[in-house]
Amino acid sequence: MADSTEEAAVATQPEVFRNYRDRKKCSPEEDVRLEKQHFWNVINAFKYYRVHVHERVNRAERQFQCLPHHHQQILTNFHCHLNKIRDCIDRNHEVLQAIVHNCLHMFENMEYGENGDPRKVRPSSTFDMDKLKSTIKQFVRDWSEEGRTERDTCYKPIVDEIQRLFPPEKCNLSQVRVLVPGAGLGRLAWEIAHLGYSCQGNEWSFFMLFSSNFVLNRCDEENALTIYPWIHQFSNNKRSSDQTRPVSFPDVNPQSLSADADFSMVAGDFQEIYSEPEVWDCVATCFFIDTAHNVLDYIETIWNILKPGGVWINLGPLLFHYENMANELSIELSYEEIKTVILKYGFIVEMERESVPSTYTENDRSMLKYLYDSVFFTARKPEKQLTSGDQTPKNDAKESSLMKIS
Ligand SMILES: C[S@@+](CC[C@H](N)C(=O)[O-])C[C@H]1O[C@@H](n2cnc3c(N)ncnc32)[C@H](O)[C@@H]1O
Repeated sequence: MADSTEEAAVATQPEVFRNYRDRKKCSPEEDVRLEKQHFWNVINAFKYYRVHVHERVNRAERQFQCLPHHHQQILTNFHCHLNKIRDCIDRNHEVLQAIVHNCLHMFENMEYGENGDPRKVRPSSTFDMDKLKSTIKQFVRDWSEEGRTERDTCYKPIVDEIQRLFPPEKCNLSQVRVLVPGAGLGRLAWEIAHLGYSCQGNEWSFFMLFSSNFVLNRCDEENALTIYPWIHQFSNNKRSSDQTRPVSFPDVNPQSLSADADFSMVAGDFQEIYSEPEVWDCVATCFFIDTAHNVLDYIETIWNILKPGGVWINLGPLLFHYENMANELSIELSYEEIKTVILKYGFIVEMERESVPSTYTENDRSMLKYLYDSVFFTARKPEKQLTSGDQTPKNDAKESSLMKIS
């Protein structure tokens, strides 16, 4: 039986869910101020990375120095390995600086002003450092030869499904409008545009936006750049060299889209900026729906923005992003429950695979690997609706920031 004092404590301390719909309560000026502050925090994180990771290596060195002398003498390669990691940090730092160089004006309709002395770097939070390390690994998934297997299991099924539903012999591809919310570094959206569809990626993380802007707009030579994505992993390495192995990117020239390709990236919160009803032929979500505070909001938005007869293609697991975050609303549903919601909105599930093995930014040489057993489905919004969700456009829609793609 539950302890009554515990129950009382819970009852008197209701949780506050920040950032969920509450955000709309702050004034537009405050919203802009917070966004600018966040923008500069992310720039700062790109600059602080080098100090942060060097400190991690210094810690490893200090710990080594605590060992008895005869143990130190056995580990003859230890210093040399740490020095290799230090070199890799500096190489990563150079790429990160190139990414944030000139990103002040990357959005068509938003300026972020100045932020004091650009040389001054403050310590960033562990949270931001983890985001940056994940972003570095996302380069492998999206834009490297090493990421090909992962893309074949995550992106290819979606691309194949789009081609099956909108075949070139029956459709004018440039008239088929595809939206990819939570586009990460943009490879899936780019592949769809590369096939001739009109495709827009949407992303809200500045870490991802700065990086996709860099790849899509400033890289034009295959494998011209090198990163060291695994140096932050000190455990589960079979060989020391696995930790310091390089990865080149981009594996394709991102500028190789045809001149008349219709491809764009839009910055902002998917739910806030996509409010115009019935404009998309296809919404393709990959490892995205579990980023919602409330996945019903996403389903409702997708329902509203799809044209009658349009399709939602989804592939991914249900690793709910807000599950363990204090003061954040998080509604965790099983796939079974999500499917019931999808059907209640009126979608017709036309294709469903409940077991698609897939990985996410996997280090293929690590002794620890995660394998997701993803769901993959296509749900159609019928031409004529029998039941309906909320199809009214939201009148508090936010303006989006269009990323310039050259
Ligand atoms: C797990 S990642 C998947 C990225 C990419 N689709 C892939 O498969 O590699 C989820 C992405 O969704 C983005 N995201 C989360 N919530 C979002 C929102 N409300 N609007 C737009 N993007 C969002 C995150 O920043 C992140 O890049």
